[in-house]
Amino acid sequence: MSRQTIIVIDGPAGAGKSTVAKGLAKKLGLAFMDTGAMYRALTLKALRQKINLEDEAALVLLAQGAEIDLVNEPGRPLKVFLDGEDVSEAIRSLEVTNNTFYIARTPGVRHVMVDLQRRMGEKQPLVGDGRDLGTVVFPQAAFKFYLDADFKVRCQRRIDELKAKGEGVDEEALSKDLAERDRKDFTRKVGPLKKADDAIVIDSTRMSIDEVIETLARHITAKK
Ligand code: C5P
Repeated sequence: MSRQTIIVIDGPAGAGKSTVAKGLAKKLGLAFMDTGAMYRALTLKALRQKINLEDEAALVLLAQGAEIDLVNEPGRPLKVFLDGEDVSEAIRSLEVTNNTFYIARTPGVRHVMVDLQRRMGEKQPLVGDGRDLGTVVFPQAAFKFYLDADFKVRCQRRIDELKAKGEGVDEEALSKDLAERDRKDFTRKVGPLKKADDAIVIDSTRMSIDEVIETLARHITAKK
């Protein structure tokens, strides 16, 4: 695979993007770039500093001063570092999840994030997952996928994930939060969730993670 091979997977929350991107990256021996984790890390920083999340100028300054690193180690889960601290766990809290949209809707913040993501893509071939990778960040990506699944199935996957971690789940609240996150992701003015015209759509509603990874891998091999 050439140095500049970029494979992107966009789609709504709970469609399985991160798990699939991670598995595909492993299968192909590429780095994995979880762009949602980057927006989450910034959100964590803003919450910790008690920044007014409606203050766009403050959020842009925060983004410009943040050091976000993604560390891929063979056989290990992706590690997310914020200003040198491992925040891989902390960025998954409900508080971070429900406040990320303030960060994600701010154009100046997205500008900083997109820049950083492009630099990561210049350094190494990678599989990235997000919302705007095929449309904004890497319109020239070698392979673009749009991974979707029925809303109910996406909710159930989130519920199963939390239960597996031993966390209590308020299923109704989770379903409301996910619907609200979808709405915000689809409707924000900058970098909304959108299928790129040339993306291959995969509906994972009735597929296992391994089947999705195999399907993507087949598309990639067929086109090479
Ligand atoms: O993928 P994940 O659910 O971890 O992403 C968290 C949030 O970050 C999303 O709800 C979305 O608002 C935002 N995001 C984004 N652009 C990306 C990736 C994620 O705006 N490329």
